[in-house]
Amino acid sequence: MVEKTETRKPAVFIQTYGCEMNKYDSEIVNGILTSEGFSLAGTIDNADIVLINTCSVRDHAEKRALCKIDVIARWKKTAPHRKLGVIGCMAQRFGENLLHQKPFLDFIVGPDEYRKLPDIMSNGQHNPSVQTRLCQNETYSGIPPVRQTGISGWVAIMRGCNNFCSYCIVPYTRGRERSRPALDILQEIKQMAEDGFREVTLLGQNVNSYTDGHADFPDLLERTSQIPGIFRIRFITSHPKDLSDKLLEVIASNEKICPHIHLPLQSGSNRILKLMNRGYSREDYLNLIEKARTFIPGVALTSDIMVGFPGETESDFLDTCDLVETIRFDDAFTYRYSPRQGTKAVEMTDHLSEKDKLDRLDWIIKLQRRITLEKKQEMIGHRVEVLPERRSKKSTGEWMGKTITNHVVVFPKKNVSIGQPVEVTIQECQGLTLRGNILTPEFLSLKAKPGRKQCGS
Ligand code: SAH
Ligand code: SF4
Ligand code: F3S
Repeated sequence: MVEKTETRKPAVFIQTYGCEMNKYDSEIVNGILTSEGFSLAGTIDNADIVLINTCSVRDHAEKRALCKIDVIARWKKTAPHRKLGVIGCMAQRFGENLLHQKPFLDFIVGPDEYRKLPDIMSNGQHNPSVQTRLCQNETYSGIPPVRQTGISGWVAIMRGCNNFCSYCIVPYTRGRERSRPALDILQEIKQMAEDGFREVTLLGQNVNSYTDGHADFPDLLERTSQIPGIFRIRFITSHPKDLSDKLLEVIASNEKICPHIHLPLQSGSNRILKLMNRGYSREDYLNLIEKARTFIPGVALTSDIMVGFPGETESDFLDTCDLVETIRFDDAFTYRYSPRQGTKAVEMTDHLSEKDKLDRLDWIIKLQRRITLEKKQEMIGHRVEVLPERRSKKSTGEWMGKTITNHVVVFPKKNVSIGQPVEVTIQECQGLTLRGNILTPEFLSLKAKPGRKQCGS
C-alpha cells in the first residue's frame, strides 16, 4: 500500500541574507514553490528542505552564510530525506565550486533560475544540481510573491545592474539590468493593497534607470500613487548619476511619494569616485543635494559611504568626512571596502591594511552617528505623521511606525490601529530611537494635508 505521506510535497524553510532585493526574491521563491504544492515551514525543524538565500556584497556577508550552511548541515544529517540548497548571489558567484567546500549541498541555484526550483527539489536523486545561468529577460513576471501579511512591503521593479562600479560584485551575481513591465508591477501592488498593505517600497539597484519602453521611473511612481489603499510609496536605490529633475518634481508634487531619497555617495574624493567608476564628481553630488533640498523642502537624505577603497589617501578620506559634515545626511550606512574577486578594484594597487580601513570606518561611523543624533534631536517638539506598522519590540503597549521621512518612532498605542496614519508629537530621543505621543488620534486625510512635507524636517 502506498502511504499518503509519499505523495506529500516537502515543506520548505528559507533563511534569507542580504539586501531587500534578496528578501523580495525569497518571497518570489515562496510564490513559485507554493504554486507547485510545496508548503512553507515556519521553522527549520519543521522543514524537509532548507534554502539559504545568500549575499556576496562583502566578505563578511559570505562568511555569515558559510557558517549558517555548516549549522544547517548538522540539521540535515539527522534525517536522510532532508535537503539543503544555496540560492542567491553566492550561489551565482561560486556555482559548483561551492561543492568543493560544502559537498553535502543538494542544490545551488542562482537568482535567474528560481523557476527551476520545484523540479530540482522534487527530484529524488542525490546528485547535486547546480543551476547558475543568468538570463537577460527573467523578471519573474506573473509570479505572485508570497509575503507575510503586514503594512509595508517590497516590490522589485527591475533586476540586475549595468553600472559596474569597480568594487561591486552585484553586476556579476545579478546579471544585466532589466525592468519589469509597469502593468505587471501595478497589478502586484493593487493586490498588496487588497491584502492590507498601505506602504510599498519599489526596489532596484538603480531605480532611476527604470524603463519598460513606455513608462520611466517618475511615471511609474505617479501610476503607483493612483492605486487605492496605498498611502505611501518609497523607493531604493537612486544612483546619483541618473537622478532627474522630473523625479524630484514628482516627489515634490505627489503627497503619497515619501520625501526621502537614499542616494549613495560612496566617497567624497573626486579621484576615488573616478576609480570607483561612479560617474559623478563631488561637485555634481553637492549640486544634486542642493537641488533636491530646493525642490523638496524637508526632504530626508540618506547614503552609503565606503572607506578604504584601494589607494584612498588620508586626504581622500578627509574629503569624504568633509562632505558628510557639509551635507548632514539624516543617516548613512557605512562600510569598509571588501575586495571582491573578479571586480576591477581587486586589480588596483595600494590596498589599505585592515587596520587602516577599520580606523577610518570607526571615525566615519562616529561622525555620522553624531549628525544622525543631532538631526533626530532637532525633531523633538515637531508634529509628524506616523504610519504604525507593528508592535514595538520592547513593549506590548506601544506601536512602532515611520514618518514620511523614514524616521522610526515609538509611541503609546492608545486607540489607534496599525495601518492608520496618525499625528504624533516627538517628545524625546532615547539612544537613536525617537519616542512620541499621539496628539490627535483622529486619522489623517492623506490628501492635501497642509505642512505634510515639513514632517521630520
Ligand atoms: N545598487 C545600490 C546598492 C548596492 S550594494 C547602489 O548603487 O547604491 C549596497 C552598498 O554596499 C553600496 O552602496 C556600497 O556602499 C556597498 N558595497 C558594495 N560593494 C562593496 C564592497 N566590495 N565593499 C564594501 N562595500 C561595498
Ligand atoms: Fe553595485 Fe554600483 Fe550596481 Fe550599485 S550601481 S549594484 S554599487 S555596480
Ligand atoms: Fe543584494 Fe547582496 Fe546580492 S546586496 S544583490 S544580496 S550581493
